[in-house]
Amino acid sequence: MSESTPQTDRAQWKSRLGFVLAAAGSAVGLGNIWKFPYITGQNGGGLFVLIYLACIVLIGLPIMMAEIMIGRAGQRQPVGAFEAIHGRKTAWSGIGWMGVVAGFIILSFYIVVAGWSMDYTLKSIVNFTKPIESQAATEAEVYIATTSIEDMKTFLVDKETDRQLHPQKGLLESRLTKSQKENHKRFMAAIEQAEDLEQARLRLLKDEELKSSVEAVENVEQQVAKARLEIAGSVQAKVNSLSATDLLAQVKLSKRRDLVFEKMTGTFVNLLTNGWHSLMWAALFIMITIGVVAGGVAAGIERACRLLMPTLFVLICMMVLYGTFQPGFSAAISFVFSPDPSRLKASGVLEALGHAFFTLSLGMGAMMTYGSYQSSKTGLLQESVMITLLDTVIALLACLMIFPITFSYGQEPTAGPGLVFMSMPLAFAEIGRAGMLLSMAFFGLLFFAALTSAISLLEVVASYLIDQKNWSRAKAAITTGLLTLVVAVPTAFSSDSTSVLSNWEGDYGLNFFDTMDHLASNWMLPLGGLFIAIYAGWVMPRRLQEAEVEDMPAWIFQVWLVLVRFVAPALVIIVLMQKVGIFDIDEWL
Ligand code: TRP
Repeated sequence: MSESTPQTDRAQWKSRLGFVLAAAGSAVGLGNIWKFPYITGQNGGGLFVLIYLACIVLIGLPIMMAEIMIGRAGQRQPVGAFEAIHGRKTAWSGIGWMGVVAGFIILSFYIVVAGWSMDYTLKSIVNFTKPIESQAATEAEVYIATTSIEDMKTFLVDKETDRQLHPQKGLLESRLTKSQKENHKRFMAAIEQAEDLEQARLRLLKDEELKSSVEAVENVEQQVAKARLEIAGSVQAKVNSLSATDLLAQVKLSKRRDLVFEKMTGTFVNLLTNGWHSLMWAALFIMITIGVVAGGVAAGIERACRLLMPTLFVLICMMVLYGTFQPGFSAAISFVFSPDPSRLKASGVLEALGHAFFTLSLGMGAMMTYGSYQSSKTGLLQESVMITLLDTVIALLACLMIFPITFSYGQEPTAGPGLVFMSMPLAFAEIGRAGMLLSMAFFGLLFFAALTSAISLLEVVASYLIDQKNWSRAKAAITTGLLTLVVAVPTAFSSDSTSVLSNWEGDYGLNFFDTMDHLASNWMLPLGGLFIAIYAGWVMPRRLQEAEVEDMPAWIFQVWLVLVRFVAPALVIIVLMQKVGIFDIDEWL
C-alpha cells in the first residue's frame, strides 16, 4: 500500500540549484548534441529551428511545469505519485507504468550510443585519425602517380559537380511527396518486368494518378539532369584551365578526402556491426550510471551533475569559439538561423514536436521523479524556464559547434545519424594536431551529456522499486541497471551481421535499434505527454495545483492552463494521428 508507506526519510535535493542542474542534466543529452544537429540538417536549418523553438515554448515548457508540479505534489515517483495525490488507486498511474517501460526502452538504446561516445573518446586519446590520415595521403600519392591526366580530370569534374549539385538536387527532390515517389517506384518496378517497355508504359499511364506522379518525378529528374549538365560545363572549363601542378594538387586533396571519408566510415561501421564491442561499452557505461544512481539523490546524482554540467558547458563554449575562427562559420550561422521555407516539409514540423519531448525528457515521468525530491512550493516557473532555457541554449550551441566544422571541411549538414560519428572525426582529421584535442573534448562532452541523462532514466525505473517496494537504493539501481543491459543486448547486436536480428530490418525497414527509438520517442513519449497535460489541466485537484503556483503571477497561471488544457493536447493528437497514418500532412499542405 503505497499511501501508507512511511516517507519520512525520503531523499531530497540539497539545493534549488542542484535540482535545476540535475534536471538540466537529464534534459541535455544525446538528443541535443547527437540528434538535434542532424535533424536540423535534414530539415534544412533555419525554419525548422524556429518551429522547434515554438514547440519548446508552447508545449515543452507547460508540460515540464506540469510534470514537476505533479512530482512535487505527490512526493513519489510516477507510479505512486497519482495514487498519493488522490489517496486511492487510480488509472492515472498507468502514465507511471508506461514511463517505467519507456525508461527501459530508451535506456537500452541510449547506453549503446553512449558507449560509442566512450569508444570514440578513447580512440581520440590514442589519436586514431592520424594513421588514417597518413595512410590516405600515401594512397592519394599513389593514385596521382599511376593515373592518366585525362582520368584525373574526369575524377575531379565528377567530384566537384556532385558536390555543387547536391543542395540543388535535394531542393528539387524535396518537392516530391511520399506517395508520388512510391507511385513512381511501383511504376518502375512494373516496367522492368514488362517485355515491351514502351507499350507497358503507355498501358500503365492510363491511370491518371499514376501518370501525374510519374510525370512529376520525371520532371524533377530532368531538371536535375539539366542542372548537372550546366554545373559540369563550368566545372569542366575550370578544370581544363588548371595548370598541371594545380590539377595534381587538387586531385590529391580530393582523393585524400575521399579515402579518409571511406576509412572513417569504415571505422564507425566496424563498431556498429560489432555487437560484442558495442555491448562491452554499453556495459561499462551502465556500470557508471548504476554507480551514480546508487550513490543517492544528493550525494550521487546532484553531485555528479554539479560537476559535469559546468564542465560540459565550458567544453561546448570552447568548441564553439574554435568554430568562430573557421571559414565555414558564417555559412553555419545562416544555415541555423535564416529561415528558408522551401527547405522544410510539413512532416518536419511534426519531427520538431516529437523532438521537443525527447530533448526535455518529458512524457515518461523523469521530471516528475526529479520534482518529487523537492518539497519546496515555490519557484516552479523559474525552475522550469531555467531547465528549458539551458537545454535549448545547449542544443543551439551544439549546432554552432558542429556546423562550422562540417561546412569548413567539405561535409554535408544532411549526413544524418552518422553526422557526429563520421563527419566530425573526418573534420578533426583535417584539422591535424589540434584536431586530436578537439576530438577528445567533443566525444568526452558527448559522454558527459549522455551520462547525466542516463542517470535520470535509470532513476525513474529504480525509484519505482525504492518508493513502492521499499528496496534499498543500491539493490534497486543494480537490478534495474543489469536488466537494462539485458534489454540492450539485441540493440547492440541489431546491426551485427552475424546475429539473427540483422534480418529484422529486411522485414519492415527499421532495425531493432530504430524500432526501439521509434516506439519510445514517437509513441510513448507523446502519448505520455498527452495524458500528463490532460491530467494537470483537467483532473489534478485545484487545491494542490494552487499550492504549487502560489508565487506565480495569476495571468501566467491562466496562460499555462490554456496551454496544457487545449494547445498541447491538440497538437500532440495531430502528431499521433499523422503517425497512425490517418493522413499524410505533406500531401495536405
Ligand atoms: N533528454 C535526453 C536527451 O536529450 C534524453 C532523456 C533523458 C530522456 N531522460 C529522458 C528522454 C526521459 C525522454 C524521457 O538526450
